Amino acid sequence: MTERCQGDTRPRTGPRARTAIVLAAAALLAATSAAFLPGTASAGTTLGASAAEKGRYFGTAVAASRLSDGNYTTILNREFNSVTPENEMKIDATEPQQGRFSYGAAEQIVNHARSRGMSVRGHTLAWHSQQPPWMESMSGSALRSAMLNHVTQVATHFRGQVVAWDVVNEAFEDGTSGARRNSNLQRTGNDWIEAAFRAARAADPGAKLCYNDYNTDNWTHAKTQAVYNMVRDFKSRGVPIDCVGFQSHFNNDSPYVSNYRTTLSSFAALGVDVQVTELDIQGAPAATYRSVVEDCLAVARCNGVTVWGIRDSDSWRASQTPLLFNSSGQKKAAYDAVLAALNNGTTPTDPPTTPPTTPPTTPPAGSCTATLQDSTRWGDRFNSQVTVSGASNWTVVVAVTPPQKVSNTWNGSPTWDSSGNVMTMRSNGSGNVFGFTTMANGTWTRPVVRSCTAS
Ligand code: G3I
Repeated sequence: MTERCQGDTRPRTGPRARTAIVLAAAALLAATSAAFLPGTASAGTTLGASAAEKGRYFGTAVAASRLSDGNYTTILNREFNSVTPENEMKIDATEPQQGRFSYGAAEQIVNHARSRGMSVRGHTLAWHSQQPPWMESMSGSALRSAMLNHVTQVATHFRGQVVAWDVVNEAFEDGTSGARRNSNLQRTGNDWIEAAFRAARAADPGAKLCYNDYNTDNWTHAKTQAVYNMVRDFKSRGVPIDCVGFQSHFNNDSPYVSNYRTTLSSFAALGVDVQVTELDIQGAPAATYRSVVEDCLAVARCNGVTVWGIRDSDSWRASQTPLLFNSSGQKKAAYDAVLAALNNGTTPTDPPTTPPTTPPTTPPAGSCTATLQDSTRWGDRFNSQVTVSGASNWTVVVAVTPPQKVSNTWNGSPTWDSSGNVMTMRSNGSGNVFGFTTMANGTWTRPVVRSCTAS
């Protein structure tokens, strides 16, 4: 019996002609499916690309001293779309002498990342550890002022280049007390953390501001609950906090636990983003790596995962071989598990409660600043709003990620490049805020502002 496609009303023909018709129909169906059917976006083949398809990032800690290692940078450039300087933005690195700032190594990493389209997490502005000697010996109001000045100076220096800052790192005790860590910063007054967040917001209003800590993964632990209570308090009083970082250094003494997803979702329900910021797992068990990634993907406000180094030999815990690549740079089983988890993951459907913003770029003379903000989101599309400052006659270039397509715009005059993915929007007298609708076509990556020029 000869099968016929439903709806095929053409007269029956001979066997060779029928074969040709069937093959042509199959080819057409394959082509149109790949191009137009929702949910058929190809699975990524690298960590960063696969994470981006889910609207997330996959990052790594980077050491400036390793950027001259070709094996290291080959993996970095191929696999990751976010970086965190491992030590180069810490207080001892950026302000080695009081009032004398040193940004060379940090800038090396920032430039490497941003010139390749990777985003940067800043780590960290205020911390009891890795303080330079001058700060370690300070106390009281002098230390408070010095800390706030440090936050202001460093966040200002990198304004527009850092997507999220670990503003305060590791401020709580381990164990069952749930108390603040007894540090020189804590002794300046219990409000030192919120003071640091306010200073960071003033210095870089476009960056997400995170609190970052370790041993806060287990929802039942006193330290986790203590940080949760602080974030809830901050949100209720309007302290500018946008995100919480979970370092997630898992080992035999501090293992991954199945309530990790509960921890991430509980913090997210407070109205903050959550990020896995320093992931490494003793022995790199593939199943545990997979679980961590699946937990992040299950929480709409989990923005991404950062592993704390690339190869085992790059790890602060090298002897535990806790990373995704072995010391020769070869992919381990954990790598395959992470990639599979990213490719099988679902796209979040619940919109963020407070729309995240992309940081404004610092405009050179004669240009302007364009800030993109997420707006309404539906099952198949989402709106974005761009606010322009610094010019009334502006031209803003925005790119969407294929297979996304812009389906509607307002308050501007758009033109398109030949790919249809890069939109040049010009002011049309409707003010300094324009918007557009993007058909996701299975990809929920946020559109990117490429430039803003005043004419
Ligand atoms: O660069 C110097 C080198 O010149 C010197 O010869 C050598 C001698 O010890 O030290 C080198 O500096 C070391 C630095 O890493 C760079 O390798 C420091 O001693 C060492 O203390 C420092 O360790 C870093 C550690 O933070 C310090 O607390 C690790 O690389 C870094 O991975 C680790 O990262 C922290 C996060 O910031 C916060 N969460 C925990 C995580 C792991 O401890």
